[in-house]
Amino acid sequence: MKRTAIYLLAIILISGCREKPSPVITGRNITAGHGMVVSAHPEASKAGVSVLQKGGNAIDAAVATEFALSVCYPEAGNIGGGGFMLIRMSDGSSYMIDYREKAPLGASRDMYLDEKGNLKEESSTETHLAAGVPGTVDGMLKVHGKYGRLSFREVIQPAIDLAVKGFAVTEEQAGSFNRNREYFLKMNASLPAFVKDGEWKAGDVLRQPDLAATLERIRDNGRDGFYSGKTAEMIIREMKRGKGIISAMDLAKYEAKFRKPLTGVYRGYRIITIPPPSSGGIILLQLLKMLEPWPLQESGFHSLKAIHLIAEAEKRAFADRAEYAGDPDFIDVHTSILLDQKYLKRRFNDFDPDQATDIKKIKAGLLSGHESDETTHYSVVDKDGNAVSATTTLNNLFGSSIVVEGAGFLLNNQMDDFSVKPGTPNMYGLVGGEANSISPGKRMLSSMTPSIVEKDGKLFLVAGSPGGSTIPTTVFQVITNVIDYKMDIRQAVDTGRFHDQWLPDYIMFEKGSIDSLVLEGLKGMNYDLKERSVIGSVNAIEILPDGKIRAGADRRGYNTACGY
Ligand code: DON
Repeated sequence: MKRTAIYLLAIILISGCREKPSPVITGRNITAGHGMVVSAHPEASKAGVSVLQKGGNAIDAAVATEFALSVCYPEAGNIGGGGFMLIRMSDGSSYMIDYREKAPLGASRDMYLDEKGNLKEESSTETHLAAGVPGTVDGMLKVHGKYGRLSFREVIQPAIDLAVKGFAVTEEQAGSFNRNREYFLKMNASLPAFVKDGEWKAGDVLRQPDLAATLERIRDNGRDGFYSGKTAEMIIREMKRGKGIISAMDLAKYEAKFRKPLTGVYRGYRIITIPPPSSGGIILLQLLKMLEPWPLQESGFHSLKAIHLIAEAEKRAFADRAEYAGDPDFIDVHTSILLDQKYLKRRFNDFDPDQATDIKKIKAGLLSGHESDETTHYSVVDKDGNAVSATTTLNNLFGSSIVVEGAGFLLNNQMDDFSVKPGTPNMYGLVGGEANSISPGKRMLSSMTPSIVEKDGKLFLVAGSPGGSTIPTTVFQVITNVIDYKMDIRQAVDTGRFHDQWLPDYIMFEKGSIDSLVLEGLKGMNYDLKERSVIGSVNAIEILPDGKIRAGADRRGYNTACGY
């Protein structure tokens, strides 16, 4: 008996040793057999997959990808910002960690207004006051501590290596560094790594020794490597330099939080998505529920009827967002009422099939718009079928453009996501009221919508996007493109998109995405229309019926999938 057991063990060990890891494949639209990471930068996807190949699970790979993005995608990847991560384990259980930034304890409701109550220009976007207390490091430590399999040291090391050895910047990245140069110079006392003598070109190597040292402190000391000690001292010094208000107490008190994901069913598919303080999940589920009674497929993709239906549902969802959504630790968001089937049916009762509804009838307000810039989403699936969908941000491109001197990382300008002045639109044209007003320690409302879809009880889609207010409607379109219009994930991600957010009162659409006759038809129904170059930049994964993992890395940007 004993001998048989030893014999069996030997066979298992020998065959285990013989098993060669499958080669890594990289590309935009690849299919893999074991595991996959899809992110905004090839180096970050590679870092995630290297961790999967070492025996890490999807959570280990996600944490590795998040830290790698903070090095190789400083446009949005960060340790000075925050985000939301959604997890679905292979047993079907789902979890979410909220590492959204918080308002500093010294923040106050009218901190961006002058004596006359007017908004001080750019104060919530381009000053040290624009930064919320960063959440990413605590979020990653907590989620890894609870669900990771490898050591923290192993998952953060690829990011450290990228910062020390450097990496080749992409063409698009070289352009953003060059375009942002004057901001980096204006906002910083000493030259950040992103500024070089001449122009950046694709393939130039970016090394970040200060950031590497900060990541090493986090590797060696965990939370204390960021929220106290040397890094914290550098943050406080940076705050003093620029009259910011993040204090040692703010850093010491910051806590990322596990919350219960939101779930709903759409045409038999189970949707798992993000709860407040993001409005994204509520908007996504409201849209799906309002539109479920309408056979979108029969009206045809981007047909007049389908666009009208979707735009009308979007207006109603965004009007609710403005009124009700905010940090659930401070206000009652009434999530269950907002997602109640009867409520949503009533909400759509005044839908007129022939006319755009006057937005004043949905709810009053007058605003102008602004285009969004940067955030980033990554999706991960491991060989056991565990999945991670995470969206992370500094708010707009490079956040505040302020690099913490000596620590090498950018600070967010997420405070602008609060309703800094009720009735005044933020940089995404979004309005808000009391529910999202500033309070010390409160989290600002978000639109980020990392989501996961199940089919027949099994993992089916993992998806999310940047794009400010357009995030939930982008994720909605990817999901309905697959479910209603029977596209595979690559088509669902790459095809054109449109968006309506109630205020400002127009449909924005990607150039060339809507037929000119349909555009004429929409104008005839009283819609205003605005063309825009791109909406969103999705990184998604689809699980095929044979279990293979297919990537949908958006053609918009340098999104890259890495799998094996
Ligand atoms: O949390 C939010 O909703 C925004 N701060 C996200 C910003 C964003 O997506 C910009 N990217 N394109």
